[in-house]
Amino acid sequence: MTKKIFIKTFGCQMNEYDSNRIYDAVKKIGYEKTENYKNANCYLLNTCHIRDKAKEKVYHEIGRVKKVFRSKQKPLVIIAGCVAQAENEEMLKREPYIDLVIGPQSYHKINDSILNHIEKKKKIEETEFDAISKFKYLSKTKNKSGKVSSFLTIQEGCDKFCHFCVVPYTRGPEYSRPFSQIIDEAKYLANNGAKEIILLGQNVNAYSYENYKLSNLILEIEKLSSVKRIRYTTSHPRDMTEDLIEVYRSSEKLMPLVHLPVQSGSNKILKLMNRKHTVSDYIKIFDKLNRINSNIKFSSDFIIGYPGEEKNDFKDTLSLIEKINFINSFSFIFSPRPGTVAENLDLIDKKISTERLEKIQNKLMQNQIKMNKFLENKIVDVLVENLTKDKTMAFGRTEHMTSVIFDGKKEDIGNIVQVKINESSKNSLFGKIINNSNQKVA
Ligand code: SAM
Ligand code: SF4
Ligand code: F3S
Repeated sequence: MTKKIFIKTFGCQMNEYDSNRIYDAVKKIGYEKTENYKNANCYLLNTCHIRDKAKEKVYHEIGRVKKVFRSKQKPLVIIAGCVAQAENEEMLKREPYIDLVIGPQSYHKINDSILNHIEKKKKIEETEFDAISKFKYLSKTKNKSGKVSSFLTIQEGCDKFCHFCVVPYTRGPEYSRPFSQIIDEAKYLANNGAKEIILLGQNVNAYSYENYKLSNLILEIEKLSSVKRIRYTTSHPRDMTEDLIEVYRSSEKLMPLVHLPVQSGSNKILKLMNRKHTVSDYIKIFDKLNRINSNIKFSSDFIIGYPGEEKNDFKDTLSLIEKINFINSFSFIFSPRPGTVAENLDLIDKKISTERLEKIQNKLMQNQIKMNKFLENKIVDVLVENLTKDKTMAFGRTEHMTSVIFDGKKEDIGNIVQVKINESSKNSLFGKIINNSNQKVA
C-alpha cells in the first residue's frame, strides 16, 4: 500500500526547493504526495525561523493536526527546516507528538531516519551541518515536477553574520556545490521542461567552487538551448563582483532584475546591522549595472525599525528608494531572533515602526503601480508558465518578474510570447497576445 505524505512549506525559495528534494527522496520508500493532510500517513512541516513567532507557529500547527487525528491512527510527524535546526531536540521534549526533527543539512538521512523510527519506534533528531554529504546523496534524486520555472540550489549557508539574522545558525557555514553537479542538474531540469532556471543560495553570489564563480555558472547554463531565462537569488552587495556585473553585458539570458537586499538606506544602521557595505557601495553597483543596461531594475528587502533607527535614518531609506526606484520589494519590521547579536537590543516603539513600515510599503507600492501603468499599451515578452485556475487565460511573467494574465493557450506554455498590455493593477498586467516570439529567443 502506498503511504501518503503531506508537506507544508514555510519560508524562502530554498525551503521550497528542499521540500521538492525531500519528496524525491521519500518517494523511494513508498510515499506519495497528498494535498489533503487529513489523509496523510506522514505530516512534514518544512519550517522557517527568520521572523516572528516561528517556533510557536509550529507548535500551533501540530496542535491542529493532533485534534484532527484524535480518533485516527497518528501520522508520522516530521519537523524539518530552520526551526528544526535551531530548536533541535527541545522540540521532541516539548511536543511528544513530534517523531522526527531534521535540520536542512541532514535531508540525505531522511529515509533512514523514517525507517529507523518505524522499526524501533524511537524519536530521532538529526541536526548536524553536513552539506557535502547532503548534496552528494541528493544529487542522485531529481526534481521531476516539470515546471516551466525551476529552482536550483547552488550554494547554502552564510558566513556574514548580519546582527539581525538567524540564517548562519540555521543553515551553517557557506558551502558551494560542485560546478559539474549543478550543470548536470540544470541539464536534467531543462530536459524535464524547465525554461527558466532560478539559481538559489542564501548568499548566491558568494558562490565559489574551485575557480568557478556565479558568473561562470550563468554562462555555462546559458549554453543549454532550451533554457530561455536565468535568474539568481538572494545576493549580497559585498559579493557583486566585477565578473558578475560584466555578465549583464555578455549574457543573453540573464534577466534584468537584480534582487539585491540593502536592508536600510542609512550608513549608521548598516553599520549597526554589521552589513559590511555602505549606501554608496550599493549605489555604485546600481550605477555600474545601469550603464551596462538601462533596463536593469533592482528589488530589495528592507528591515524597518532596527534598534537605533531614528527619524533621519528612516528618511535616508526613503531617499534611497526614491533614487533606485525599487520594484518587487519586501519590507519587514525588525524581529529579534534568538541567538543573534541583535536579540537583546532595545526595540524602538512599536507604533513608530508600524507607521514607518506602512510608509515604506506605500512608497514601494507606488513604484510598482507607476511601473505597471507605464507598461500599458506597450508590448512585453512573457514566459508563459501555466493556464489560470479556471483555464480561460494564461499566466506568465515579464523579464522583471511581473505577472501577466492574457488570452494565451495551453500550447503557449513554456514559450516566450509577446503580449500587448491593455490594463494594469498594482500586482499584475493584463493583455492580449500578439505573436509567439519563441524562435527569436531559443
Ligand atoms: N542573504 C540575504 C541578504 O543578505 O540580504 C537575506 C536572506 S534572509 C533569508 C531574507 C530577508 O529576511 C532579509 O533580507 C531581511 O530583510 C529579512 N530578515 C532577516 N532577519 C530578519 C529579522 N530578524 N527581522 C526582520 N527581517 C529579517
Ligand atoms: Fe542573513 Fe543574508 Fe546577512 Fe547572511 S548575508 S546573515 S543570510 S541577511
Ligand atoms: Fe527561513 Fe531558513 Fe529560508 S530561516 S528564510 S527558511 S533560510
